[in-house]
Amino acid sequence: MASTNRTGRVSSIDYAAGTYEVTYFDRGRSVTRKINAMSNGEYKMPTVGQIVSVTHTSSGLAAATTTGTVWNKTNAPAEGYQGLYRKEYASRKGQAYDRYDENTGVYTQYVDKRTGRTCNGEIYDEAKGPISLVGGGQIQVSSSGASVSLNAKTGVGIAAGTTVSLEAGGAVSAEAGGELSVSAGGKVSLEGQEGLEIEVSGGEAKITLNGAVITVSEAGDVSITSPTKIELTAPEINATAGTGDVTIEGVSLVNHTHNSGAVAPPDK
Ligand SMILES: [Fe+2]
Repeated sequence: MASTNRTGRVSSIDYAAGTYEVTYFDRGRSVTRKINAMSNGEYKMPTVGQIVSVTHTSSGLAAATTTGTVWNKTNAPAEGYQGLYRKEYASRKGQAYDRYDENTGVYTQYVDKRTGRTCNGEIYDEAKGPISLVGGGQIQVSSSGASVSLNAKTGVGIAAGTTVSLEAGGAVSAEAGGELSVSAGGKVSLEGQEGLEIEVSGGEAKITLNGAVITVSEAGDVSITSPTKIELTAPEINATAGTGDVTIEGVSLVNHTHNSGAVAPPDK
């Protein structure tokens, strides 16, 4: 008996074994044979009723093997033209596939629910052109054992519709070769563990540390308050005012009495 190629219809499948039964219609009678599906490490069972191509060995002792399903009238390709490679992963065409079009050089993988890679070593993706990650849901980049870095020849932008937060167990630093600007529509506050607080809000600025407070009001008033001592030291100090006074130990600079007993007029 010479080895022969035949086509038949899949009648039942042993999914665990990777074999199936094929029914031939020989001379008016049906003959069913157990067939070993083509392996090469790849698992893809046909569906019951599909036409498959089968090779029978010359001895007839070993089970026949199949090269798999064939394209025909009842199993037409989802698409087809010169230069196309396409592999269907699901029994329904278009549910999951990969394809390469040598006319455009575009390779595409598509699945309907979830795809991913798991690697015990390194994953390295490189492109001479742009790389895009676009998600309709959350996008998360995390490193459980090392750092995450963003480096760019030109700009790096982080923009969020709601909030952006920067948190570090250690230090956070911001350095600029040029201008550094911080602007806020609302309150700006800086607070250190040592107690320094700088607050800029609504056109007013307030610096608080160790009970001392320096404020600048929206009108331009400057106030310096200390629970202990205020020192002004300079080669020259000028104080100019239309109104006001200085009082030390109950003695007014503007209205005070000299030891002679006369009320001193304001110095002119
Ligand atoms: Fe005086």
